[in-house]
Amino acid sequence: MKLNKVLFITSFIPVIVFKVVARVGDATLIQAKIAMVIGVILAGIQFILSRQLIKHTTYLEKAFLGFLGVGTAWIYLTPTDVSSLFVDHSTTLLYFVLFLTTLIPQAFGYDPFTYAIAKQMAPERVWNTPQFRTINLHLTYFWSLIFFANFFSSWLGHGKPLFSILIPLIIILGIGLPVVRIYPKYYLKRQFISQPIDLSFFPDTAKELIFRMPMGFRPEAAGDLKAEIQFDLSGEGGGKVALSISGGKCTVREGVPLFPALTIISPADIWLKITRREIDPARALMDGLYEVKGDMNLLMKMGDLFRPPLRIKEEDLTQKGEKKMKILAIQGSPRPKVSNTEVLLQQFLQGAQSQGAETEMIYLKEKDIHSCVGCYTCWAKTPGVCVFKDDMPELLEKVKGCDILVYATPLYNYNMTSLLKAFQERLLPLLDPHLIKMGEIYRHPQRYKMNRKMVLISTCGFPEVSHFDALRHIFRHIERSGQTPLVGELLMPGGELLKQYGMKENVQGVLQAAYRAGIEVTKEGRVSKETEMEIQKPLVPPDALAEMANLWWDSHLEGVTQGKPVQGKIEDMRLLLRGMAASFNSQAAEDLKTAIQFEVKGKQSGNWFLSIENGKCAFQEGKINDPNLTIQTPSEVWLAIANKELDGQQAFMEGKYTATGDISLLMRMKSFFGSAV
Ligand SMILES: Cc1cc2nc3c(=O)[nH]c(=O)nc-3n(C[C@H](O)[C@H](O)[C@H](O)COP(=O)(O)O)c2cc1C
Repeated sequence: MKLNKVLFITSFIPVIVFKVVARVGDATLIQAKIAMVIGVILAGIQFILSRQLIKHTTYLEKAFLGFLGVGTAWIYLTPTDVSSLFVDHSTTLLYFVLFLTTLIPQAFGYDPFTYAIAKQMAPERVWNTPQFRTINLHLTYFWSLIFFANFFSSWLGHGKPLFSILIPLIIILGIGLPVVRIYPKYYLKRQFISQPIDLSFFPDTAKELIFRMPMGFRPEAAGDLKAEIQFDLSGEGGGKVALSISGGKCTVREGVPLFPALTIISPADIWLKITRREIDPARALMDGLYEVKGDMNLLMKMGDLFRPPLRIKEEDLTQKGEKKMKILAIQGSPRPKVSNTEVLLQQFLQGAQSQGAETEMIYLKEKDIHSCVGCYTCWAKTPGVCVFKDDMPELLEKVKGCDILVYATPLYNYNMTSLLKAFQERLLPLLDPHLIKMGEIYRHPQRYKMNRKMVLISTCGFPEVSHFDALRHIFRHIERSGQTPLVGELLMPGGELLKQYGMKENVQGVLQAAYRAGIEVTKEGRVSKETEMEIQKPLVPPDALAEMANLWWDSHLEGVTQGKPVQGKIEDMRLLLRGMAASFNSQAAEDLKTAIQFEVKGKQSGNWFLSIENGKCAFQEGKINDPNLTIQTPSEVWLAIANKELDGQQAFMEGKYTATGDISLLMRMKSFFGSAV
């Protein structure tokens, strides 16, 4: 048995011992006095033990100690006729004290009576749930009634054992304890039955469900909420998916955000059942079926923030008569789980879904697709049918049936990835072998009647959009020879910025444009030039991007050369300061001209400074004359701040580092350097 349960049971011993010792034999005043002393000592020991062993005490312990303490004073310090009053009515008084204990704490803003006991029994993660609070408040008032009934019985029965012990015991054991056991389940069940849900349109997997959540997002409920919610769903149909809420919008992507406000760790099937209302979420949390880290209030708000999938589907269906646009997305990145291109693709698909389009994702990485061997069997011997019986025949059927075929690929050697190339080669069965002149050039006509259009989505590593020239050219050829209009090009240079935490704000425009592209394709049949340009626009100057990328590689190379595993943490003060200079936000600095000197002690001591002028920030070794601000810090402290292990302002207040000169500059540093300070 757990220690807290043992201590809960032993908390009754002092009053029981007091009653027994006071009543056995002649029940004289002397005997009552001895009983009182024993009782108060035992209650004191119990109180200290609870404090020491489990760091907190229950109201019962406090009530018993108070009752026995006051009783001792009463019995010893008052004349015999007054002290015998306490002896005669001690049980009645005890019930009254307990009755008051159930009423007073919450009136002064303290936890209600049953809270402390329930906290000992229930896991900490549920303490802040509204259900936990409400249940405890209800139970506390229920105990008020029980203790009042006992007080009344004992008072009317003039302390006779039948009325002061037997009947109260029957009430406590026969009514009190069973209600305490049954009521929480009853309450939670009732709450959850009140929201029935039609499962006919429900997604089949938890991951699919999360991807649909932005469709049911309610900006009016979110207000100016800015948070990321991480789902870590294990087992079949699961995965790591992140929802990002900002500026009244919600987006979803596969992967793990750096600083989620809330993390939900659950087996995929449990989360699916919870959302289908087959399992009560609060009960499941209390039973440990899933785990939550971070902001519990955000968890509680999720019901308001997102409509259930049923409503979304209903809305889709209201576009009666309109045939739904079918979008098939082919993802050619060999690392789809952490893909930059995927981030744009998901935004695009969500935009399309918001207009009622039906979307399907194919991850080529997960498919078995043999390269084309050029046997032409699909043209000559078995027209339209390939010799390979891998995953491609099924995909060909999907391609035939879609309205928009989205090609998503990172730029590899100025081109698409080999995965996507293999897929495209295997589209050969869809073409007729004859060479037919159409316009200026000859081409192979489509074998099957089709009305398909294409969208190209790509990210690349380099900062200039010109790196996409060859890829664009290829798709223009495909467009002409395949009679498949290319209705959108979503090309983002510097694609790695999509995953940089410090760039979170800067990439919002690109994400919104990708979302808008999905809407435009579905509503207007093509992506507007403005939207395409918004995605192509460099987010940071090419030099800054190169500097950031080089720093990243340096830090990872250093990890390798020193034989250390790379932790994803910044562990080098010099690199950190160089990184700060590279990620400098010139807009926030306006026309500031200043110099910040770092005098670093501790594990990695040294002198470095950052000079800011003409909207640029330069990192330099050594000391500068007359810096505007000098920061003296142990390297461990500043690195901990950059790694979000320490709060910068708090560390300053606590004197973990010092700053002299223009302190207002220190306060503004966050706006220039983002997450690095
Ligand atoms: C084998 C390989 C070749 C690459 N070739 C180029 C290239 O020619 N130009 C470029 O700008 N980036 C190139 N990159 C970088 C990727 O295009 C870039 O990191 C992209 O955002 C990755 O997308 P993903 O995360 O969706 O896979 C290459 C990366 C790899 C692994």
